[in-house]
Amino acid sequence: MAFKKFLRKADSAAKTEGKKRKKIPTIAEVKAIRRKFFSDPALDRHVETVRLFAVAVAEAAVKAGFDVNPKMVDRMARLHDLVLVYGRKSGRKWQEVGKTSSYEHARYAAQVLARKGYHEIARAIGKHGYPIGARTARKYFSIEEKILALADTRALGDTLPGWQKKIDRDKKAYPVAGPQHRSMQQFAKQLERKGVDIEKIIKSVRAKKGARG
Ligand SMILES: [Fe+2]
Repeated sequence: MAFKKFLRKADSAAKTEGKKRKKIPTIAEVKAIRRKFFSDPALDRHVETVRLFAVAVAEAAVKAGFDVNPKMVDRMARLHDLVLVYGRKSGRKWQEVGKTSSYEHARYAAQVLARKGYHEIARAIGKHGYPIGARTARKYFSIEEKILALADTRALGDTLPGWQKKIDRDKKAYPVAGPQHRSMQQFAKQLERKGVDIEKIIKSVRAKKGARG
């Protein structure tokens, strides 16, 4: 299966790269990468919502004793939807791309990032759009990737609705999303058991966004 082959390749590249594996772009480098892709205000707002939520979860997870790099989560979040942006650039609606060929676009975005030596981020972006069941999450996803997936699964555009609202909406748009919701709810519970209060974090992110108008 092409997805597993890609992961194996990304893993061996990461190993041979040694220390470079943890190479993280600066904000300026992130902006330069994003400039190469088409940009859209609604998508930018979504990316910012996912980023605020994911970074807050990462920071709370660190405090709860998890081995997480919030800076890595920040950069993954800033770059995670290059996939969709590329879809728009190629003249197709991103909703459509998300359903049909996000896989192919994820690969393209991952290549761009891997060429610059950002292997961990390339790996995360390469997997984007792939439905994450519990087994996949356990076997193939780093904790940073799971935090990003949790934030992205929970977000609806630039809002963070309750789980049930998000699940009901996804059921209509993406009938295959069931296992992903379950695995992300499982992951959220794992964090919550150690004292990461996801719902409280969501409230504070909503307040932050409100303050910014
Ligand atoms: Fe997203």
